[in-house]
Amino acid sequence: MEVNILKEKLLKELVLVKDNDSLVKLKKQYLGRKGKLNSLFQELKNLPPEERKKRGQELNEFKNFLEKEFKKKETEIKESSGSLKNDWLDITAPGRKASIASFHPLTQTIRTVCEIFNSMGFSTELGPEIESEYYNFDALNIPKDHPAREMWDTFWLWQEGFDKEKNRSPKERFLLRTHTSPVQIRYMEKEQPPLRIIAPGKCFRREATDPSHDFELYQLEGLMVDQNINVSHLKGVIEAFLRLFFGKSVEVRFRPSYFPFTEPSFEVDFKCLRCQGRGCSLCKESGWLEMMGAGMVHPKVFEAVGYNNKKWQGFAFGLGLDRLTMMKFGIPDIRLLRNSDLRVLRQF
Ligand code: PHE
Repeated sequence: MEVNILKEKLLKELVLVKDNDSLVKLKKQYLGRKGKLNSLFQELKNLPPEERKKRGQELNEFKNFLEKEFKKKETEIKESSGSLKNDWLDITAPGRKASIASFHPLTQTIRTVCEIFNSMGFSTELGPEIESEYYNFDALNIPKDHPAREMWDTFWLWQEGFDKEKNRSPKERFLLRTHTSPVQIRYMEKEQPPLRIIAPGKCFRREATDPSHDFELYQLEGLMVDQNINVSHLKGVIEAFLRLFFGKSVEVRFRPSYFPFTEPSFEVDFKCLRCQGRGCSLCKESGWLEMMGAGMVHPKVFEAVGYNNKKWQGFAFGLGLDRLTMMKFGIPDIRLLRNSDLRVLRQF
């Protein structure tokens, strides 16, 4: 058969080939040892020498043609079966597990606590972590050189000895706030009573760390100002808060204490939930856990923000959020709360 006819025949046959097996079969027909090409080469020797050369070139060209066409088809089949494999979807396969992050236990506590107080009509306010001496101390009735300042070991951001800093006023002398109480002042300066606010946030104290103390701590300030407010309102709000936070009634104890910005002042404890007050290692065998400082707002504080202290009364408290978090999640060391170790964090 003429080479040109064979070429056309092959092209038609190739169109019909859909898989590798039939391709191999077809290839054998053309390029195999007993295939069409070889038998044409066999015939060469019967030709006279002058024709043989021309025919030889023609057959070599045919051979190249065949190899090229088969190669083309081969890659075509390979590619189409490859993409089929890639597109294949096993809808019964279990899904790949996404790693889902969770909120830090402290964040969870802060959110829950804020929600509870919001539901009781307290709005959430925030204040700066870098605070002035005035807001952190003076306006809270803690003047310079007052011994009560020693209650708060302070990270100062200015230095007394520096000439250019010598004449700074308390509003220009900065520090890392030692409590959230300055937010009380900032809020009362711009708003009029009656009012109910909470202020969560980070505070700093220049002290050594141990399992229950850190130089960084979280507090939640509470402040309510209205007419005829007294200690029973404070007690009622705290008890309601604990009931909602722990999901059951929790016994509360008020101990007399001292803060320059409240009078009277209290230390508020709640009964240890682990031992029901019998005494355990968590409550250091006392049966009670310290929760907050609190008291009735001192008239001097109202004076500092320009409120009429004959007309208004209020209560304030500073709730320790780290302790509360440790209690709720069973975390034995406060320093674990500042740890970025994923083995710790993945547990919550
Ligand atoms: N600011 C006090 C502290 O950090 C706590 C406190 C707040 C006490 C409000 C009374 C009223 O220790």
